[in-house]
Amino acid sequence: MFVRNAWYVAATQNEIAGKMLARTILNEPVVLFKNGDGEICALEDRCCHRGAPLSLGDITACGVRCGYHGMMFDRSGKCVDIPGQTAIPARAKVKSYPVVAKGDYLWIWMGDAAKADPADVLDYPPDDQENWPRSNDVLHLKASYVMVLENLMDLSHLSYLHRTSIGSSETDSANATMDVKRTPRGMKFLRVMRNADAPQNWLKRYPTGKKVDRWSDFEYVAPNSIMQFSGGVNAGDYDAGVRSGSHLGRTLHTVTPETEKSCFYFFNKADGYTKFEDPGRERTWKPLTEVFKEDAHMLEQQQLRLDNFDPKNLMDINTDVARVQMIRVLNEQIRQEQEEMQQAQERKQPSMQAG
Ligand code: FES
Ligand SMILES: [Fe+2]
Repeated sequence: MFVRNAWYVAATQNEIAGKMLARTILNEPVVLFKNGDGEICALEDRCCHRGAPLSLGDITACGVRCGYHGMMFDRSGKCVDIPGQTAIPARAKVKSYPVVAKGDYLWIWMGDAAKADPADVLDYPPDDQENWPRSNDVLHLKASYVMVLENLMDLSHLSYLHRTSIGSSETDSANATMDVKRTPRGMKFLRVMRNADAPQNWLKRYPTGKKVDRWSDFEYVAPNSIMQFSGGVNAGDYDAGVRSGSHLGRTLHTVTPETEKSCFYFFNKADGYTKFEDPGRERTWKPLTEVFKEDAHMLEQQQLRLDNFDPKNLMDINTDVARVQMIRVLNEQIRQEQEEMQQAQERKQPSMQAG
């Protein structure tokens, strides 16, 4: 089940550069593009005439012309031209979605448009290419969006799934301290590993010693995003308040459901240390994408195992503390929205009966 009243990343800005993008979001076919006037459009990707995908049509000044029989729609979804007739019936329209361009992304609102407030769109990571140069990527996963969030909420997997890249040893991971708390928009956790072995890829490019203090400060903003601030310093420096000098990153992880069992995982990492890196050494970005592909493979296999299995039969262990809290927040938000929708439906029904 999905929360509908929320901003989801529909695409990166690059994905609609000079073209239309067809994407299923929360089970609905959507087409995204910039019209000839340069305005961003997010429309139902299904013509109201015979159901052809509008993404197979042509961009016009105000919107899109269907590639099947030529009806034209503006960015509000209203039909503004029907070839061969002058009268345009009121029902000649497709759904349009609120959309906001911010940072590297286009954010879409799939729920009640009256509730969409652009001020709620996340502003992360920092827009500071000099001190926090950032890169982003997206992975399509045949797995539930919830699994991606759960994966990020339980970092004990780093020592196993990512042992050859960003993982610390199993012992260091088991000794990590965890501090979990609720926030107005969701929850957060702070995980600190003191005097841990430096991960393999840090040793290649940072001037830290072999022993480091690592912290991961993750804020979950329900229903779909996680803001991460993490880094590493020489062992002993974390408790002295040092927060720079080695690995240092701010990452936005945000997941957009495609269907119940597939999603788009957008990640955007700003590296606070890049400018101090030795340019002759390997850069961080490519390996990080490779790291997340390790997660993607595991999650897709996990999804297959859970397709015909009741998750109630699974069990929690100590390292699930943040994951369990995150699921509680998400389920609460889903339940609240369902209740509101039902109440709205009930308010409508008496007036329909009276009418
Ligand atoms: S299906 Fe679009 S105009 Fe006919
Ligand atoms: Fe991972």
